[in-house]
Amino acid sequence: MDMITPEPRPAWIAGRAEQGASTLTVHHPYDGSEVATVAVPGPEQVERAVSAAAGVAKEFRRSSAHSRAAALDHVSRVIAGRAEEIAEVITAENGKPLKWADAEVRRAVSVFRIAAEEARRFSGDLQRLDTDPAGEGRLALTRRVPRGPVLGIAPFNFPLNLVAHKVAPALAVGAPIIVKPAPRTPLAALILGEILAETELPEGAFSVLPLGNEETSALVADPRLPVVSFTGSGPVGWSLADAAPRKHVVLELGGNAAAVVLRDWPDPEGAAERIATFGNYQAGQSCIAVQRVIVEREVAGEFVPALVEAVKSQRTGDPYDKNTDVGPVVDEAAAERIVAWIDEAVAAGAKLLTGGKRDGATVEPTVLTDVPPSTKAWAEEIFGPVLAVSIVDGVDEAFASVNESAYGLQAGVFTRDVHLAFYASTELEVGGVIIGDVPSYRADQMPYGGVKGSGVGREGVLAAMHDLTEERVTVFTGIDL
Ligand code: SIN
Repeated sequence: MDMITPEPRPAWIAGRAEQGASTLTVHHPYDGSEVATVAVPGPEQVERAVSAAAGVAKEFRRSSAHSRAAALDHVSRVIAGRAEEIAEVITAENGKPLKWADAEVRRAVSVFRIAAEEARRFSGDLQRLDTDPAGEGRLALTRRVPRGPVLGIAPFNFPLNLVAHKVAPALAVGAPIIVKPAPRTPLAALILGEILAETELPEGAFSVLPLGNEETSALVADPRLPVVSFTGSGPVGWSLADAAPRKHVVLELGGNAAAVVLRDWPDPEGAAERIATFGNYQAGQSCIAVQRVIVEREVAGEFVPALVEAVKSQRTGDPYDKNTDVGPVVDEAAAERIVAWIDEAVAAGAKLLTGGKRDGATVEPTVLTDVPPSTKAWAEEIFGPVLAVSIVDGVDEAFASVNESAYGLQAGVFTRDVHLAFYASTELEVGGVIIGDVPSYRADQMPYGGVKGSGVGREGVLAAMHDLTEERVTVFTGIDL
């Protein structure tokens, strides 16, 4: 599919398509070919987007639930209708294999549908206050009102669905949103702008600004955008929070997600298949891709060879080939860094069981074992197709090993024992524990977010709607309760 258009793809300024002050070029990570050029708005256009968002905030907050739900339903339906085209665009800009791009598009369809459903339900609470004598005849009504216009900053690894997780909850609660997609992968977000422009949303309710990361600092500092919702790397996220101490900042950051395989799990080979798939999906470029694999010694003899075989059967190649499992990482520099981290672990004593090399931006699916915990391949977020296996004695050592991390996004625990499952959910320092599966499982309606270095706040449609709003209490007096 030829994606080059005669004019650069327009930015969306307060709901209208506009050419920019300059352009950026999007490249296909697999072969570096040019995919498209994109309009980059100048300062005057950015100012118009922000003042329109601030100007429409009150009107939008008071808009009807049915009108917001209708807009969200429209977006969901149109994405579903254009699924094939959008998946190809995602593969072009991000390099993820088509099957994973398809999965991403299907998830975005759900995100907008769920947001429409939640917009219709989102109401408030009543609380009787006559539980103490001073409250006799009194009743509190608590509603949630938007904190204000949102600046949503999205990463490259899910160019559509992580933009959807910024846009859909904001629109569902009636908060204008300015989205800044990742400069490498702005195309899916721009298509979303086009679809949003087909709705009856008021002017200013959304803008899509494909800006460079440097131009974003002014937006982060702008008091007219009191909420900043960021998904991306830890250093950038925490620096944004430091730069905007008075704002409500939501940070969805990285992780080095662990999958724990306990000895009671009846199907170690099945666990190995799942871990091999979700250590390598999107070439490991997901914050919840499996990175650390913590195995109880009793099952290691069966599990580890099965894992190595399953990883060897992951096919690398052209992401447009429907048989490809593992495409390139985002660029060659990222591939070089990943291989350097593998080499560092091996130099420090780790054993390489398979993989370890790269061809351009494609990194071979890799399994390491005996990885010293101080090395980056274990301690940092590798964001590549690399699994680091550790063999432990007992559940407590396994869970302590999960927790010995600066991050805490999600963990997966392969056990059938309900008591151990509950213990895991109490003990593990993460935002989500997945029992009987990999940490990479995410349903878009469930709360999603991390503890420790993995961020603050929660996404997942309803959780984000809570995060983007604040409680407003109204007390009624003289009520016949
Ligand atoms: C992420 O990389 O944080 C998002 C993972 C997902 O949505 O599946």
